[in-house]
Amino acid sequence: MAQTVYRARLLVFDAPFDGIYPGAEQRASFNEDGALLVEHGRVVASGAYDAVAPRITAQASVISLRDKLIVPGFIDTHLHFAQTEIIASPAPSLLPWLQTWTFPAERRFEDAAYAREVADFFLDQLLAAGTTSAAVYCSVHPQSVHALFEASHARNLRLIAGKVLMDRNCPPFLRDTAQSGYDDSLALMTRWHGTGRQLYALTPRFAPTSTQAQLDACRTLAAAHPDVFIQSHVAENTDEIAWVAQLFPGHRSYLDVYEHYGLLRRRAIYGHCIHLDDVDRARMAACGALASHCPTSNLFLGSGLFDFEAADATNMPVALGSDVGAGTSFSMLQTMNEAHKIARLRGYHLSALRMFWLATAAAAHALELAGHIGTLAAGSEADFIVLDPAATTLLARRTAQADSLEALLFAFALLGDDRAVAHTYAAGRLVHSRATPPELAVQLR
Ligand code: GUN
Ligand code: ZN
Repeated sequence: MAQTVYRARLLVFDAPFDGIYPGAEQRASFNEDGALLVEHGRVVASGAYDAVAPRITAQASVISLRDKLIVPGFIDTHLHFAQTEIIASPAPSLLPWLQTWTFPAERRFEDAAYAREVADFFLDQLLAAGTTSAAVYCSVHPQSVHALFEASHARNLRLIAGKVLMDRNCPPFLRDTAQSGYDDSLALMTRWHGTGRQLYALTPRFAPTSTQAQLDACRTLAAAHPDVFIQSHVAENTDEIAWVAQLFPGHRSYLDVYEHYGLLRRRAIYGHCIHLDDVDRARMAACGALASHCPTSNLFLGSGLFDFEAADATNMPVALGSDVGAGTSFSMLQTMNEAHKIARLRGYHLSALRMFWLATAAAAHALELAGHIGTLAAGSEADFIVLDPAATTLLARRTAQADSLEALLFAFALLGDDRAVAHTYAAGRLVHSRATPPELAVQLR
C-alpha cells in the first residue's frame, strides 16, 4: 500500500505522557495546516504540513481536507453491545432498569444469528459516531462474543470485549456458573485476545451478580493473564451500593470487594465510579485502574454526578464511556456535552481540549494502548476521524466565529453528534463516510 497524506487541521496527542492525568491535555499539538502521513495502516508522521512534507514520496496520494479537522478516533471505554436495541427505555433507576429492560434484551443473544445481525448494526453505529475503539460488554452467551469479535476482526477494528459473568441474582436464563464462566472466558480469551486487533476483557457484570466462587475464578484468570483487560461496574447507584454491603459484609467499600478478588489493577476498567470516596480513588490511581465516566447514562438513570475535582486530586485515571443502552447516545461528542454539564453542576470547568483528550489519549494511556491508538503519534495505528465544522448550519455559523482551538472543539462537543463525523478511518482504511469519500476527490499537490 502506497503512502497517503491527509492534509487538514490536525489535533494530535503525541507528547510523552508522564502519568499525571489532570492537565495532560495541554501537551496537545495542533496545526492549522497539518498533515497525517499514513502507510500500511500506520501513522508514519504527523504534524505541521511543512515538517511532514520531506517524508512524502512522489507516489503518495494527497487528500486535501483543509476545511476539516482530523483528530484521533474516539475510544468509548464502556458500553453494552447486547443493549443496543433497548437504548432509550425509561426506568426509575438502575436496578429496576436491569430487571425490566436489560435482562430480557440480553436473553435474545443466545441466538447466534441474531447476535451477528446486531453486531454489524452496533459497529456501524460506533463508526458513524467516530468511535474506532471501545470496551464492550457482550451478553452471558459465548456466541455473542464470537459474533462481535468476528464482525470487528473482519473490519480490522481495535476492540476490547468480553462475555458477561453472572452466576446469581439474575434470571435463570442468563445465569452461568463459576466453572462454566471460567471455562467459557478462558476459551474466548484464548481464541480472541491478540487475534488481529481484538483484545479480551474478563467481564464480571458487577459484584451483586457474582458469587464469591465466581469472583475467585476471575481472580485466577486475571492473575494468569496479566495483559488481559477487566471490566465491571462500581459505585453507580446508592441502592446498588447498599446491596453490595449486604452481600459482601466486612469490606471497607464496594471497590474494596474488587480489590479483594485481585480485580483492581492496570488494564481494569470500572464503569461509573460516582459514589467513591477518596481512599477508593487513591486505590484506583495506585493500581492503575481506569474510571469510565458515563454521563448520558448517569443523567438518564439519575445515578449521580461524577466528581472531576476529586478525581483530579487523586490522579485517578478517567476516560469517557457512552454506556449504551443506559446511555442515550453512541456519540462521544454528545457524551462530552453531558460530561461538561455534569461537571458544571459541581462547579467544575471541563474544557473542550480536556474532553477530547479524555475521549482519545487518556483512555489509550490508561489502557496501555497509547502505542497503538488514541494519539496519532508516529508509529501508531491510523485510526482517525475527519470532523466537519460545517456539518450543520448551526455548527457552521458557530464555528465561523471560533477564534481558538478551544472554541472550535467546544462547538463540536456541545453541538456535534454523528452528523459532525464526515469520515472514519480504521488502520488507514475508510470505514465510514457521511459525505463523498475523500478518496474520490483526491487533489493534486
Ligand atoms: N450495573 C450492572 N449491570 C449494568 C448495566 O448493564 N448497565 C449499567 N449502567 N449498570 C449496570
Ligand atoms: Zn454499563
